[in-house]
Formats: sequence, C-alpha cells, structure tokens
Amino acid sequence: MKILVTGGAGYIGSHTCVELLNENYDVVVLDNLSNSSEESLTRVKNITEKSLEFYKADLLNKKQIATVFSEHKIDGVIHFAGLKAVGESVSIPLKYFHNNITGTLNLLAVMNDFNVKNIVFSSSATVYGDPASLPIKEEFPLSATNPYGRTKLMIEEILQDLYHSDKNWNIALLRYFNPIGAHKSGEIGEDPCGIPNNLVPYISQVAIGFLPWLSVFGNDYDTPDGTGVRDYIHVVDLALGHIKTLPKLFTNPGLLIYNLGTGSGYSVLEMIKGFEAASNKKIPYKIVDRRPGDIAACWADPAKAQEELGWKANKTLADMCKDTWNWQKKNPNGYLESL
Ligand code: NAD
Ligand code: UFG
Repeated sequence: MKILVTGGAGYIGSHTCVELLNENYDVVVLDNLSNSSEESLTRVKNITEKSLEFYKADLLNKKQIATVFSEHKIDGVIHFAGLKAVGESVSIPLKYFHNNITGTLNLLAVMNDFNVKNIVFSSSATVYGDPASLPIKEEFPLSATNPYGRTKLMIEEILQDLYHSDKNWNIALLRYFNPIGAHKSGEIGEDPCGIPNNLVPYISQVAIGFLPWLSVFGNDYDTPDGTGVRDYIHVVDLALGHIKTLPKLFTNPGLLIYNLGTGSGYSVLEMIKGFEAASNKKIPYKIVDRRPGDIAACWADPAKAQEELGWKANKTLADMCKDTWNWQKKNPNGYLESL
C-alpha cells in the first residue's frame, strides 16, 4: 500500500511517516517546506532505516500534484499540509483561506482525476469552538472563532459534500486535540519558526534559556487553578491514530469522524510543573491577561476512536514532557544546525 502524505515534512507529518514506514507502508511525501525542513525526512529515514520519496511541491500548483499521482500508484492520502498559526490567520486571513482551502480543492480534484478516493484529513478540536460541556463528543455542535478554525470547518464541509455526491469516497476527519512531545529518539520534534505561539514549545524554550519567562494567559478561568485546561496528546500516539484509521478506511466505510485526544485535561500550571520535573529546570512565569479568543477548558471524549478503531492514547504527561525536553536538548536550534 502506498500512502501520499501531504505536509509530511512537518511536525505531525514526520512522526506519522515514521509509524507508516514501521508498518511497511510505502510513503510518498509532498511538502513545499514553507514551515518545515527536508532534514526532518532525512531523520525519519535514519530512525526507520527505510526510504521514502519526497516531492518539494505546492498544493497551490495542480500540475505539481498531478506529477506525483502520475509517477506513483497512490492508494490513499493523509492530508496534513496547511498553515496553522491562529494569530497569523487573524492578520492575514486571505493567505490562510487560499493556502488551506484552494490547496485542498486542488488535491481533491487531482485525486478525483486519478480515481484515488481515500483520504484522512487533519482537523482540529478548534472546530468545536467554545464547547457547552465537557468532555467533547464528535456530535457536538461545530463553530469557528478565527480564520484558521474556519478553514478546518470549511474543509470538513467540503469533504462531507464530496462524499454525499459520490459514495466511492472514503473520508476520515480526525480532530486532534493538543499535540505535544517528540519521537523518543529525540531526532524529530516540533521546530517552530521564531517565537513559539503554543504553550509547550514556549515552555521548552524557557527551560533551555532562550526565553526569560512564560506568560501565563489568565488565572481567572473557571478551572481548578484558574488557568486554561487542554487535552495534551503525545504526537506519537496521534501518529498511531492515523495508522489505526487506514485499515478501516480501506474497508470502504464512507465518512468517519473521530476525536484524537487522551480524555484528560491539564492546566497551564500543571504543565509547568510537569516540565520542571522532566527537565530539572525552573520555569519562571508571570500571570498576564487572558489571550483573546482562548477558551477556559477543552478535552476529548475519545471513546468512539477506541471502540471503532481500537485506538487509545497510551503515553503519560511525564512521557510528553520528557520527550519534548529530550528533543529540545538534542536540537536547541531545531533542524537549523544540520543544514
Ligand atoms: P506543520 O506546519 O509542522 O506541518 C504542515 C506542513 O504542511 C509543513 O511542513 C508545511 O511546509 C506544509 N505545507 C503548508 N502549506 C503547504 C502547501 N500549500 N503545499 C505543500 N505543503 C504545504 O504543522 P503540524 O503541527 O504538523 O500540523 C499538521 C496538520 O495538523 C495541519 O493541517 C494542522 O492544521 C493540523 N493540526 C495541528 C495541530 C497542532 O497543534 N499542531 C492541532 C490540530 C490540527
Ligand atoms: N498559554 C499560555 N501561555 C503561552 C501559550 C499558551 O498561558 O505562552 C495557554 C493558553 O492560554 C491555553 C494553553 O496554554 O490555555 C494552550 O495554548 P496553546 O496555544 O498551546 O494551544 P490552544 O489550545 O490555544 O490551540 C491549539 C492549536 C490550535 C488548535 C487547538 C485545538 O494552536 O491550532 O490547539 O487543537 F486548534
């Protein structure tokens, strides 16, 4: 079985490539490297001692996508490629809509032309907006609070319309909660461009001494310690969720929707403590105002994925912090130094 991984050089994509190769899938990666480095794929090959095909190509260029499909008999696509910074999406929405929506439409049109109708899409817990209750189940109402989230919601709707128009499509919408951590080897991990927006990459750069302190965005939420609560999931558990989805997708199930989370929430202060224990470093922090657009708490009900895919996140918060720190220590400047 040959899988095309769009965005495969990125954070979640590279970890998924490792698990695909471990399961003996043939892997073809398409990535324009706009937010990643080809070095991640070199490391994927080193970890697995297997090879993969790489196309530096852009989903905004239909011809480049068609070249990949004409040179390989693709059985299914895992579609990670997209822009993902929430704040940036508010300042430059058109770039986000063009890249994420047009890129996906181009991909789907080429898949249709080549009669490849199996796709797994990277959606996000952001499609639940501010949930009325917790834990979040797949059938909860959907809404978007920023352009990035709107691209996820719109792509989910596009894929559902496509399925309703042609039942030969098999589509899995995987809604990720908060991926953190890194491969246990410390060879691949999250390599944010510039100052990180997300909590764990930020904490990690405070621990290594690149940033002086963490700003904790609000301690007056209706949560046990007043700080925001999220469902952090180890990126390898998340990658394995894709591995469990593929065999199901190839049984012609039609449309599938799953939450990929652990089912547990941790606060910002709990994350700081967890990281201090893993790194043996003090993480200085200051309480500042809430970040606009943030919700108080969000965690998944992952029961559906467990029942239907036999998938469950196994790694603990201590594993997530330990593996993030191992990656950060081994690669203080991310992939930069290897280039
Ligand atoms: P990432 O930025 O590390 O990976 C995305 C990859 O897509 C990058 O390598 C980038 O170069 C590539 N890309 C972007 N636009 C492209 C285009 N037009 N053509 C070809 N390649 C393109 O991000 P990630 O954290 O690995 O996220 C992967 C997917 O999961 C994204 O769709 C993201 O929205 C989604 N997601 C991520 C999170 C998270 O917190 N990391 C949470 C929920 C959902
Ligand atoms: N936080 C801080 N300080 C920081 C960064 C974050 O206190 O410097 C807090 C936030 O207020 C929030 C928690 O840490 O309470 C987690 O914030 P992240 O930015 O790490 O994650 P979010 O839950 O805000 O958003 C992430 C992705 C979105 C995705 C969403 C759901 O950035 O793209 O998870 O999957 F949609």
